[in-house]
Amino acid sequence: MLRTQLVSSMLLMSMMLPGLAFGGGDAVKGKEIYTKFCASCHGPSGRGDGPAAAALNPKPRNFADKKVMDALTDDYLFKVIQGGGAAVGKSPMMPPWGGALKEADIHDVTAYVRTLVKK
Ligand code: HEC
Repeated sequence: MLRTQLVSSMLLMSMMLPGLAFGGGDAVKGKEIYTKFCASCHGPSGRGDGPAAAALNPKPRNFADKKVMDALTDDYLFKVIQGGGAAVGKSPMMPPWGGALKEADIHDVTAYVRTLVKK
């Protein structure tokens, strides 16, 4: 009984505070997702130079640029990946992934995107 309550209150918390779960994103799983869904535009190393990017204006951001990426919060990254560019007032050419990817997948792919930054 107590255990059920614990589990459900933890579930509730993680639903209310998606930002908290970010530390747990799995970059290894995230890489698979990235390669499958994101690299065509964002490029294999995240520089915005995927094969589909040539036709895009604005171009996808350079995920390897530390200055740029440090300015973006995890909450923002989650929102733009889940809801697409339009959700944050950016280009709708960045598609929303909330339908194809579960929240955990979005955390994973965010964790992977963070690894692309050149230190
Ligand atoms: C069809 C091409 C395309 C695909 C596929 C795509 N994106 Fe994007 N993405 C874009 C474009 C274009 C932008 C730039 C939007 C802008 O600057 O207005 C963008 C922006 C972003 C940003 C915001 C960075 C910023 O400039 O604020 C993130 C984060 C992002 N994409 C992550 C992803 C992830 C993760 C995936 C895979 C699940 C993905 N994208 C798939 C085209 C794409």
